[in-house]
Order: sequence, then structure tokens, then C-alpha cells
Amino acid sequence: MPMKSTTVKAPRVKAYRRILITGASSGLGAALALAYAGPGVELFLGGRNLLRLERVAAAVREKGAFAFPHAVDVKDADRMRDWLGPISRARPFDLVIANAGVSGGTADSAESLAQIREILDVNVSGVIHTLHPVVDGMRAAGAGQIAIISSLAGFRGFPGAPAYCAGKAAVKVYGEALRPLLARNNIGVSVVCPGYIRTPMTDVNDFRMPLMMPADKAARIIHRGLARNRARIAFPLGLYMAVWLLAALPAWMTDRLLAVLPGKKNLPPTGENLP
Ligand SMILES: NC(=O)c1ccc[n+]([C@@H]2O[C@H](COP(=O)([O-])OP(=O)(O)OC[C@H]3O[C@@H](n4cnc5c(N)ncnc54)[C@H](OP(=O)(O)O)[C@@H]3O)[C@@H](O)[C@H]2O)c1
Repeated sequence: MPMKSTTVKAPRVKAYRRILITGASSGLGAALALAYAGPGVELFLGGRNLLRLERVAAAVREKGAFAFPHAVDVKDADRMRDWLGPISRARPFDLVIANAGVSGGTADSAESLAQIREILDVNVSGVIHTLHPVVDGMRAAGAGQIAIISSLAGFRGFPGAPAYCAGKAAVKVYGEALRPLLARNNIGVSVVCPGYIRTPMTDVNDFRMPLMMPADKAARIIHRGLARNRARIAFPLGLYMAVWLLAALPAWMTDRLLAVLPGKKNLPPTGENLP
């Protein structure tokens, strides 16, 4: 049975005032930006598509927050450092949500090397490029909260999306390792493992997605979990239990079931989703 998430020493900062969200131009990132927007809150919003980021920024400002959209590719370590380093040195972030991600799989054809590289570069290196420039500032402040957006797909390899599962497993384990390490500096680290959320990422899927939920509901669950510094924010419970069981069972019991599960479509060539 899945264990209830444990909590360790809660971080000092609870009312987050200075927040970084990557992948804020659509889907879950945009919903999180709105969930945290409020009078006086500063939201630093990353994504590649400035037009969509500006739309989210406008919605956030309507709720009284300050929004600072910035077009940057999380794969570019230098540009991420150039963006986040000075902001973090001026005043450290209270909350950092490493959310940007892409997904693709094997429904159309086997994964190309380009697809595998793109998924791992964005979903794994992108998370590290987000956290690396900001952690020292949080350490110096002795406060803050980090959220890494993984997935229930990170609990077990699924043949429909091998690179995606591998990347989400990598950042899940990375976050679990960071948590006790950064707790010494009073920084909370939560790994977020959602099931299906209705966003542009899942809009392209043509298979049944059990227990799918709207992005604003997912954002509320994450908001609550982060306020409690939950180690793992995994939801919805029914799907969490199913993947937990699949991961616990031996391969000879699960291989045949996994082989018939539907796959994600191939990732479009880089940049195709940009205007
Ligand atoms: N939807 C689900 O069912 C689900 C379930 C579990 C986990 N997740 C995870 O939740 C996160 C958000 O996904 P979503 O469902 O909200 O999908 P989405 O609507 O496609 O949003 C993905 C976001 O990531 C940004 N992004 C992608 N590549 C980027 C890059 N190279 N550099 C910077 N930003 C980049 C996109 O912005 P630009 O296009 O503007 O760059 C967009 O804002 C992802 O990590 C995803 O794996 C989603």
C-alpha cells in the first residue's frame, strides 16, 4: 500500500511572496501562477512562448500580483543562470516550482534519439538548470520551498513513454535526495507526482485517461501540499495506488498488462508548438 507522505521540519517561509515557476505559459504552470497570485506577490514566470506568458502575466496582475514573464529555454544552462542568478542574489526566492516539461512516446513509432534527448534535456537538465542558480540564495536565507514536478509515470517504466518515464523517475529521486540535504538549511523540498491533468500536454492523447482532473484542481492540491512541506504530493489517490502496486509487483506479473497499454504520440520536432 502507498505510505502516507511524511513531513520533516517545515520551512520557515509559509506566505510565499517571491515565486519562480518554469513552464508557466500554459497548463499546470499557468494554473499554479494563478493559484499563488495575490496582492504584493512577485511571480517570475518562465517559458519559451512570450505571447502565452504575457497572457498568464496579465491574469496574475489582475489578482494584484507583480508578474515578470521571461522567455527562456530551460535547456540553456547559461541563459537560465543569467536570468535567475541576479534575481536570486537581489533577494532569494521563497518558492521555486520546476515545472517545465515535454512529453512524447512510442504510439507513432519507436523513440528517435532526438526525441529521447529532448525529453531528458528539458525534463531532467531543465530542472537542474532551474534549481542550481537559486539554491545558494535560499541556503543563505535559511528558508524557502522547492517543488519538482515529476509524475506518477516516474514510479514505473511504461512502454508507451520510455524517455518520459525515465526523466520523471530521475527528478523524483533527485528531489528525494535533495530533501534531507536542504532540510539542514531549513529549505523544504517536495516532489510532485500528478496523474492525468487536462492541459495541452494531454489534449493530444487519444486514449482514455482515468481520473483526469482540471489544472486548477491539481494546482490547489499542490498548493496545499507545499504549504505542509509534504515530501511527496502524489494524486489522485486511486491512480497513485495503481502505479505503486504496478511498481511493487514482479515483471512476470505486469509485463503482459503493460505491453497493451496505449502510448503517447511522438514529441513534435523541437519548437513546433511555438508560433
Ligand atoms: N498534464 C499531465 O497529465 C501531467 C501529469 C503529470 C506530470 N505533468 C508534468 O507537469 C508539467 C507541466 O505540464 P503540463 O501538463 O502543464 O503541459 P503543458 O501545458 O504542455 O506545459 C508545459 C510547459 O512547459 C514549458 N516548456 C516546455 N519546454 C520548455 C523548454 N524547453 N524551456 C522552457 N519551458 C518549456 C511550456 O512552455 P513553452 O511552450 O512556452 O516553452 C509550458 O509552459 C510537466 O513537467 C509535465 O511533465 C503533467
